Amino acid sequence: MAIRAIKGINDILPDVVGKWQLVESVARRIFSKFGYQEIRIPILEKTELFSRSIGESTDIVEKEMYTFPDRNGQLLTLRPEATASVVRAFIQHKLHLQPAMRKFYTMGPMFRHERPQKGRYRQFHQINVEVFAMDDPMVDAEVIYMLLVFLEELKIPRIKLHLNSMGCPDCRLPFRQSLADYLEGVRDKLCSDCQRRRLSNPLRIFDCKVDSCGKLVDKAPVLLNHLCRECEKNFQSVKDHLDSLAVAYTIDPFMVRGLDYYNRTTFEAITPLLGAQDAVGGGGRYDGLMKMLGGPDLPATGFAIGMERLILLLDDKAGALKDSNRLFVACLGEEAKKKGFPLVQQLRLSGLTVEMDYESKSLKAQMRRADKLEATHVLILGDDELAKGVATMRNMEASTQEEIPLEGLVEQLLRRLQ
Ligand code: HAM
Repeated sequence: MAIRAIKGINDILPDVVGKWQLVESVARRIFSKFGYQEIRIPILEKTELFSRSIGESTDIVEKEMYTFPDRNGQLLTLRPEATASVVRAFIQHKLHLQPAMRKFYTMGPMFRHERPQKGRYRQFHQINVEVFAMDDPMVDAEVIYMLLVFLEELKIPRIKLHLNSMGCPDCRLPFRQSLADYLEGVRDKLCSDCQRRRLSNPLRIFDCKVDSCGKLVDKAPVLLNHLCRECEKNFQSVKDHLDSLAVAYTIDPFMVRGLDYYNRTTFEAITPLLGAQDAVGGGGRYDGLMKMLGGPDLPATGFAIGMERLILLLDDKAGALKDSNRLFVACLGEEAKKKGFPLVQQLRLSGLTVEMDYESKSLKAQMRRADKLEATHVLILGDDELAKGVATMRNMEASTQEEIPLEGLVEQLLRRLQ
């Protein structure tokens, strides 16, 4: 039996690659205007990096990581997200000593062993943005604004911004107690995972996808109502800055983001068009992570966008071939092929997009292929033409034809097609 790709791990075929390239190029263009630099980080890291950053009792670490010992017995993990790696790289290369390096973006594959469905895969791609050493609420607002500018530039329809605050350790501690008290009262109705989390990490109960837990969570106390004064002031300031940029948002106290490292403002860009997988992107502040991973005590914020979800939302025509001319050279006979082959290379070097037939097919078959390749022009080189010292050029869109002398052919083609 032929070998197939692994479930939930997909090929990206040439007919959609145009959309991926469009998304990548818009990200690069917009993010660099906002002062971000690209960083490229490894796909494989020590398991500890993720279990410590994302949190031992999160779904990602408990159930979804691709973890295995390498040949030396070291435990490695295919990255389930990029934030931890960007922080690790920042610490490892002492980038805090280089003031020009504060804002980063990175793109690439991530791996989570989730149940595959539309918009949810086991290998998926993210565009990540991370900002370090800036804790002004203006930066939170600007990061969110940049995410929305990016989605708008791609004309992604019906995006709603959800906002929450995860507070700080000072307000989380007393809140944890009131949540634990509430959960104690309903403990028998919790699923087995939440029974466990109730004691180890009660906040993670908000991530539970089991229906019965969802109903209990709806009535649970929320952190947003327990913020300390400083966190409340900070959240208000983020909202004020968003207002100054005319950004609309919905406050969503139940959004806890599935990863343990967040504090203060968190956010998601949601769409009703993707069914259950409604988050196109999400992120927030994670001021404690750098120190927790052994680095300097520097604040941070950022987000990640799911590229597959973006591609599903893009207009059908987005990323389609540009309107530039594409030439197909049809050679009929051995002599013509010998002349056509170097000519094709010369035209490509001169800047034209050129394809040819290598298999000595009939003119009809070659014209069919030219049509499939959406060639705008076909140059026909046959024995008759060679004898006359000309080539025939057919304009596929206008359905017109003309003869061009072989002498000075390249210049003539460049004049017409460039
Ligand atoms: P996240 O919410 O886990 O955050 O993932 C961000 C986005 O990745 C999601 O909103 C979704 O679009 C996409 N995504 C996640 N899982 C899958 C999947 N299985 N299949 C397809 N798409 C998926 C993070 O990963 C954080 N590191 C974001 C961040 C950066 N926070 C601060 N900086």
